[in-house]
Amino acid sequence: MVVVANRLPFDLEKLPDGSTKARQAPGGLVTALAPILSRRHGAWIGWPGSADVELEPTTTDGLSLFPLPLSAEEVANFYEGFSNDTLWPLYHDAVADSQFHRQWWDSYRKVNQRFAESAAEVAAPGATVWVHDYQLQLVPQLLRRLRPDVRIGFFLHIPFPPVELFMRLPWRKQIVTGLLGADLIGFQLPGGARNFTRLARSLLGSTTSGGIIEHDGRKVRAAAFPISIDAAEQSALAATPEVHRASRELRADLGNPKKVVLGIDRLDYTKGIDVRLQAFGELLAEEDPSVQDAVMVQIATPSRERLGSYQRMRESIERTVGKINGDYGRIGHPPIHYLHQSLPREELAAFYAAADVMAVTPFRDGMNLVAKEYVACRVDGGGVLVLSEFTGAAKELRSSLLVNPYDLDGVKEGFRQALTMSSVEARRRMRSLRRHVLTHDVDRWATAFLSALEGTRDHVADAM
Ligand code: G6P
Repeated sequence: MVVVANRLPFDLEKLPDGSTKARQAPGGLVTALAPILSRRHGAWIGWPGSADVELEPTTTDGLSLFPLPLSAEEVANFYEGFSNDTLWPLYHDAVADSQFHRQWWDSYRKVNQRFAESAAEVAAPGATVWVHDYQLQLVPQLLRRLRPDVRIGFFLHIPFPPVELFMRLPWRKQIVTGLLGADLIGFQLPGGARNFTRLARSLLGSTTSGGIIEHDGRKVRAAAFPISIDAAEQSALAATPEVHRASRELRADLGNPKKVVLGIDRLDYTKGIDVRLQAFGELLAEEDPSVQDAVMVQIATPSRERLGSYQRMRESIERTVGKINGDYGRIGHPPIHYLHQSLPREELAAFYAAADVMAVTPFRDGMNLVAKEYVACRVDGGGVLVLSEFTGAAKELRSSLLVNPYDLDGVKEGFRQALTMSSVEARRRMRSLRRHVLTHDVDRWATAFLSALEGTRDHVADAM
């Protein structure tokens, strides 16, 4: 199998002595895919994470990595421009304005062509090629032209937007046609698959029935496959004595507060970090009994830092943290601890284990794997998850406290309930969350997708 994703599982950097430094790439896509791919011994084509870095293919843990270099101009136009300033906001309910520029589209087309050519070179005859996410939506069609013999799956990790929003895109037909080059198109939720099917009908006049779209004499299936994490591995990590010790030490470093509230996100304007902080700040201002002796920890992983919208969000978050700590802190006791850093998995596991309340409040999120990681790490059966109803995870994690992230009073009420919940109720809810997360893991997701992809060949054959 060949995986094609914008990023490799590792950010690779070339050091002056010619050697290469690797660290896990950010985001949910890599969190989910890295463990299954290393078990399945496939090949992975992706960008190593910095401009103008040319690296030779390498093999780690039975996984063959094929680095695809991007020039500084491609990073600016394809990655920062079209992928993250046009598509990312549009696909996330337009929570920020999308910018439409023809030269960005041009670069998107060209870089997608380069990914397709690289996949065509690497794939063995009759191989399965699995293309991932919004940065590469033209690859299925481009690859099919180059290699009609391969089976092509596509999975979108972020939401697929409502038809009314997608229709704003000047290149809407090209994107839908690009995706239809796949045999199977996977979405996080059934709503995404339905939106896409409607678009194929209205934009291309395709005939559709029960998630099967007829296009170009072929049948393409669109369906939902909610993604997950390597839950058993995450749970085992949280159960190690090292993580136990680290989590106790963390609580001590925080001054052994009665309650620890935690947020862990890429620093992104879709994540609702600002509203979450504001909600906590208002509870402090009102001297609400639930936040007496509670501290909040917000870890915001640096992300897409050259984009203005991300810089503005960072400034706003840091101003809010500074204001709340200035207004309500005491020397040595700030109510909010804020880290703008990317931390290793072991350290994150210790934070999850130390947190009485986990706040996951995005305005829109395809799935949100942080919510599932928190649940997997609660090997002690405690902890309360406050979860935005606009995440994919909310459709599965029904025993969390669901909140509307746009409703400040609703988020405050969610915090209040979480902070005052009896341990009997918290355990009852966590038991049900764990049952779900531990049985619906990333292997189950990959197997479901790949067997559905295999099934498509049969109905493609039927159609001929
Ligand atoms: C999300 C996207 C991924 C992306 C990740 C990190 O999870 O779905 O495709 O890789 O964010 O973003 P970045 O821009 O750093 O790759």
